[in-house]
Amino acid sequence: MKRKVICVIGTRPEAIKMAPVVQALRREDFEVVVLSTGQHRTMLAQALSFFGIAADHDLEVMEERQTLDGITSRVLTGVGEYLDSHSADLVLVHGDTTTTMASALASFYRHIPVGHIEAGLRSGDMARPFPEEANRIITDRLSSLWFAPTAGAAENLRSEGFSLTEENLFITGNTVIDALQETVEKNHPPSEPLRSFFEIPGPILLLTAHRRESWGDPLRSVCQAAGDILEACGQIRILVPMHKNPSVREILTGHFTGEERVLLCDPLDYPDFVSAMNRSSLILSDSGGVQEEAAFLKKIVLVLRDISERPEAFETGTALLVGTSREKIAREALRVLSDPDYRRAILTRGENPFGDGRASSRIADGIRNFFRNR
Ligand code: UD1
Ligand code: UDP
Repeated sequence: MKRKVICVIGTRPEAIKMAPVVQALRREDFEVVVLSTGQHRTMLAQALSFFGIAADHDLEVMEERQTLDGITSRVLTGVGEYLDSHSADLVLVHGDTTTTMASALASFYRHIPVGHIEAGLRSGDMARPFPEEANRIITDRLSSLWFAPTAGAAENLRSEGFSLTEENLFITGNTVIDALQETVEKNHPPSEPLRSFFEIPGPILLLTAHRRESWGDPLRSVCQAAGDILEACGQIRILVPMHKNPSVREILTGHFTGEERVLLCDPLDYPDFVSAMNRSSLILSDSGGVQEEAAFLKKIVLVLRDISERPEAFETGTALLVGTSREKIAREALRVLSDPDYRRAILTRGENPFGDGRASSRIADGIRNFFRNR
């Protein structure tokens, strides 16, 4: 009988990073079910459709301005009820969202083994990122199989006293590189209004922000820094694909509406966002996934956070940790844009640390091995 693997996803990055895993598992002799919690709605659908994956079941938990309690309880109950009426040999979760943590808990309550993709990331600070650091720790504790993207992430698990063996811990690389490689190979032309924006010569700065700990003043300060960059650099234009979260959009639209050299838009389809990263002279972002993708694409990214769970991005990747200080962001951005030696020094630090695009097949191998030993 085929072993049944339930892949749970809820938000945009989970969809992008789980998609290659679903594809890899479907090439094997497993029954693969995609369970969407629907923590995100449009942004999740957008990401899944590009990879040709449809959710087999959608719990549709998203609400406008949802609270952490609300999502946690709806995901816990929804996934729990789903697992009560559908068998599963393994539940796979990804990353550090509320979907990840609450789905792992629902599986644990039913004694169904959990495999955690992107296991072992740690910032060491429960408040930053919030609530993701807690979600990672809880999910790792509830798991039986750990797919660490880097050796450093595996080391974090070892140092926390997990009982790890060659059968349950796998260093795989990050599946986002698999997704990105597939997208780059497809080479989709950008859609409007991006195409016209890209055709105008001159540097483009790409800006994304969504982290809960940045809502309010830190994000305002990022917007002010972007204004300073526009003022100091007459050629530059800024592309701002806005996250759907109203707490983020209100601040971004408040700052940039009517600004001639800024294109404010809805979240971009994944291939358009990849084109945008490729066309940019510099990226400003607080996103985890974007730091990993930038390392592969050899694009410099100023990380709008004070602390990180991805130290590799600053060691051999292409990231600089700048926080949310207006002065520091503007200073670093202008330096990167104007100083070719500085740029070269960042871009030649080393190899992309986030993988070779074969993370998903390593995960499929690990799962096959796990079932063989049970
Ligand atoms: C969530 C994750 C965060 C992850 C991010 C990726 C949690 C607590 N947070 O943050 O770890 O990095 O996703 O983007 O799990 N909304 C829509 N349409 C959508 C998506 C969101 O309207 O397609 C709006 C809704 O009003 C929703 C709000 O955004 O209530 C916030 O969504 P939520 O998933 O709670 O938090 P994010 O900030 O997106
Ligand atoms: N992304 C996208 N469209 C956008 C912005 C981002 O497809 O308009 C992709 C990006 O390439 C990356 C992922 O979404 O793969 C990152 O998602 P997000 O920043 O929301 O979450 P995080 O990675 O911080 O958890």
